[in-house]
Amino acid sequence: MKKTLLTFFVIFLVMQFIRVEQSDTAIIKDQEIKAPLEVYSILESSCFDCHSNKAEWPWYSQIAPASWVISSHVNSGRDALNFSIWETYTQEEKQEELKAIYRTVYTVMPLPSYIWLHPEADLTKEQRSLIRKWTGVRK
Ligand code: HEC
Repeated sequence: MKKTLLTFFVIFLVMQFIRVEQSDTAIIKDQEIKAPLEVYSILESSCFDCHSNKAEWPWYSQIAPASWVISSHVNSGRDALNFSIWETYTQEEKQEELKAIYRTVYTVMPLPSYIWLHPEADLTKEQRSLIRKWTGVRK
């Protein structure tokens, strides 16, 4: 029993040496999304951690294996949609993303695992419908 615990502890320690990419790049004001304040503040509090270059990295994001999961969410989230460079997207790209936002804001976004750790990021029905309206997408 003692040996098993020790083995786990050693594995846990070794895991800490596997570092992952967690960088924030500088924000260029002109490239940031321009949206009405009401919409912007929802995006900021519920989406920016994974879809902008202004992620906040909580203490547990520094501890493996949580660090691996969180970094992968942030990196793939940013690759898919980054509000910090929104204004560099073409009209077509923006339209595609707006459609995807319309779809996901009522289903999988923000990610459930994120809401679990950030209950304040969960959106009310009114906030979800405000985001949908802002996308301008018609069903
Ligand atoms: C905890 C991290 C996280 C949060 C918070 C989050 N997302 Fe995501 N989002 C992701 C990941 C990861 C993907 C999947 C990227 C992929 O397909 O590889 C994604 C994908 C998306 C996509 C699809 C983009 C595309 O082009 O495929 C949209 C749209 C989206 N998110 C919108 C939102 C919105 C709106 C919010 C806030 C209400 C939000 N997300 C909050 C992590 C997050």
